[in-house]
Amino acid sequence: MYVCLCVGVSDQEIRECVASGAATASEVMNRTGAGSGCGTCRATIASMVDGGGGPPDGGIKPCSVRSLCVLRSSSANT
Ligand code: FES
Repeated sequence: MYVCLCVGVSDQEIRECVASGAATASEVMNRTGAGSGCGTCRATIASMVDGGGGPPDGGIKPCSVRSLCVLRSSSANT
């Protein structure tokens, strides 16, 4: 599931980043680029890092910026 729609970063990528040594949300965001757009995902990323890689899958809130999903889908088809 995408956590950061602006950059297209998934929960799996964030978990892998934490597993590879990123210790803070800022470090995860710097390494992955997540959080560098609208910022909606930053709290979710922080909770995933503070939780040692993330809450159970059902506990991750996807970004609610649906217009970005449309933009990404549209640009992928061009
Ligand atoms: S959803 Fe991550 S910066 Fe916009």
